[in-house]
Amino acid sequence: MQKHIDKLPVSKIELLRKKLHKHNYLYYIKDDPEISDSEYDRMMKELIGLEKTYPDLSSPDSPSMRVGAPPLSTFVTTEHSIPMLSLDNAFDDNDLLEFDKRIKKNLNTSDEILYTAEPKLDGLAVELVYENGSLTKASTRGDGTKGELITENIRTIRSVPLILQTPNGIKTPDLLEVRGEVFIGHAGFKKLNQNQLANNLNIFANPRNAAAGSLRQLNSKITAKRPLGIFSYGIGKTTDILAESHWEYLCILKKFGFRINPLIKSGLTIKGAIECYKKISEKRDFLPYDIDGVVIKVDSLKLQQLLGATSRSPRWAIAYKFAAVQETTKLINIEVQVGRTGALTPVAILAPVNIAGVNVTRATLHNEDEIKRKDIKTGDTVLVQRAGDVIPEIVKVIDSMRTGNEKTFSMPAKCPVCGTEVVREKNEAVARCVNTNCPAQVKERLKHFASKAAFDIEGLGDKLVEQLVEKKICTSCADIFYLNMEKLKALDRMGELSAKNIIKAIEKSKKISFSRFIYGLGIRHVGENMAKILAKKYKNFDELASRHPEEIEAVEGIGPVAAESIFNYFRQDKNLKIINRIIESGVTVVYDSIKTKGAFEGKTFVITGTLETWTRNQVKKIIEFAGGHVSSSVSRKTNYLIAGKSAGSKLVSAKTLGVKIINEEIFQKILETSTELE
Ligand code: IVH
Repeated sequence: MQKHIDKLPVSKIELLRKKLHKHNYLYYIKDDPEISDSEYDRMMKELIGLEKTYPDLSSPDSPSMRVGAPPLSTFVTTEHSIPMLSLDNAFDDNDLLEFDKRIKKNLNTSDEILYTAEPKLDGLAVELVYENGSLTKASTRGDGTKGELITENIRTIRSVPLILQTPNGIKTPDLLEVRGEVFIGHAGFKKLNQNQLANNLNIFANPRNAAAGSLRQLNSKITAKRPLGIFSYGIGKTTDILAESHWEYLCILKKFGFRINPLIKSGLTIKGAIECYKKISEKRDFLPYDIDGVVIKVDSLKLQQLLGATSRSPRWAIAYKFAAVQETTKLINIEVQVGRTGALTPVAILAPVNIAGVNVTRATLHNEDEIKRKDIKTGDTVLVQRAGDVIPEIVKVIDSMRTGNEKTFSMPAKCPVCGTEVVREKNEAVARCVNTNCPAQVKERLKHFASKAAFDIEGLGDKLVEQLVEKKICTSCADIFYLNMEKLKALDRMGELSAKNIIKAIEKSKKISFSRFIYGLGIRHVGENMAKILAKKYKNFDELASRHPEEIEAVEGIGPVAAESIFNYFRQDKNLKIINRIIESGVTVVYDSIKTKGAFEGKTFVITGTLETWTRNQVKKIIEFAGGHVSSSVSRKTNYLIAGKSAGSKLVSAKTLGVKIINEEIFQKILETSTELE
């Protein structure tokens, strides 16, 4: 037998495992891959092949375990060695100040207490047990005392280390229990639901439900296909780890190879913690995953121990929750709006409800299919959600509140504004009014034409547009440039001064970049970005209008549907006449290529240090999209170094070479304003 083992490719397997662990860590934890995805896949395939041939050499630590193990018949429960407690909540600054007061009183001190503030991730708490450096057990929080063993499922999560890293020879503890939150990010959630739909499966209501459903799978091969991630935020029972603060714990966990949230701040006074809460809440809408508050923890482990816990929650931590973004209210009516392209959009008229400080009275219902899918009826009690500036939407109907008097909605057969027949084309979710002269469409086209990202005509607001269309003064966007004092003064509530200002604003808008002009035309499927791409590719309208769909589709960033729509737009005489009339009115188009270039055209960037708002890959994609290039090392050719936290040698080289150094905030500003650097 010994002889037989000697022939086994032990060292080959070990080397492959070591390499795969390392590259997994570089990709999922450091966000700084060294090898291509295909190279990684090739190594993994080789390892799986070898393990299949030599089953005696299989190991629960192997990176191949990430693809899932044979299914379980049931979940086994397990007791946590230290209970996994819950957190008390704070809802305003005052609650937090009271928390600080309570702590000082309990400790009988007036000294300033220092805190750590970290995002409260909206996922599921788990405990990972490492014995002699290997992941041996993982469980859900359960009731706090006992949870369910989900070891095989946890092994499939790429950001969970299967074996602890021990850089610079740090000692592997005999026992280490790590606690953290498993979640699904926004991009992964969207993809997962698209996939569920495509396979005729139920879709998940939110990322948290999706993460819960994915973790509670008896078949870990299914879990392996779900885009689960983890941030670790604490330690349970452990041996050999010497630390004085929670922050030190987090730093040690990071060294062992765990993913720690980059927004965590330490050494904060209670006022600093409140500031940090505000900063994190401002970032909330831009984060790629859901958070529902900020957890404030006493940093000193000694003080934590002195403070202790109630049966429910520790006295040394509190969750400062964000204001609710979901509320229930009554759906009073469903109105149908006609958009710029004739699309009929049902809109829910709601009994006014305050959601996170904003009075909400309407919510979009998207289209008829969406109403059917969510089974929404007039008179229903519904759960409404708003996130940042996004239009509020209905999450679900509260079935238990139904009285039987609710009314089913059906899309009108005729346009509610002009009475023209409504058409819903095959494979389209949207019903449309096909009359391009429909006053509702003309109004929306004018509003779009005058909007900030298009001709940016100040003063030409919704009310004025309504009058101009209703009084038939404007039947197309071109008519805007033929307005004069006489026509304007004839309108209701229009004084001499306002009319003058509008004429001035129209004059000012007459010098316009090619991309804004294209965008302003409101061609279906052509948004701001696509308009920029078209303006960069084509010299002028003549060239753009002469292209066939296949040629347009060949342009990077333009798909077949948009290409067809652009082609059709320029085949309609009416549209060509509008463009000509606009130009004849004295509008000058700036075809200046520099203006339409990406903000980072021709610039070389190097990224270093830990970024807080984006991952490195995201930043890379943004730069490349804006025409720039990302290089891995600093040289004289580097234009900008984006330096995150703890930047090291690259920062030094950049300083020596006189390379411009920017931080994430400046980078974001450049992106928002789309101004060129320098
Ligand atoms: S600390 C004893 N830190 O919040 C301390 N919890 O309501 C308990 N959570 O079950 C946990 N992010 O699922 C902590 N940064 C964070 C967290 C966090 C999310 C969750 C966790 C816990 C729940 C408590």
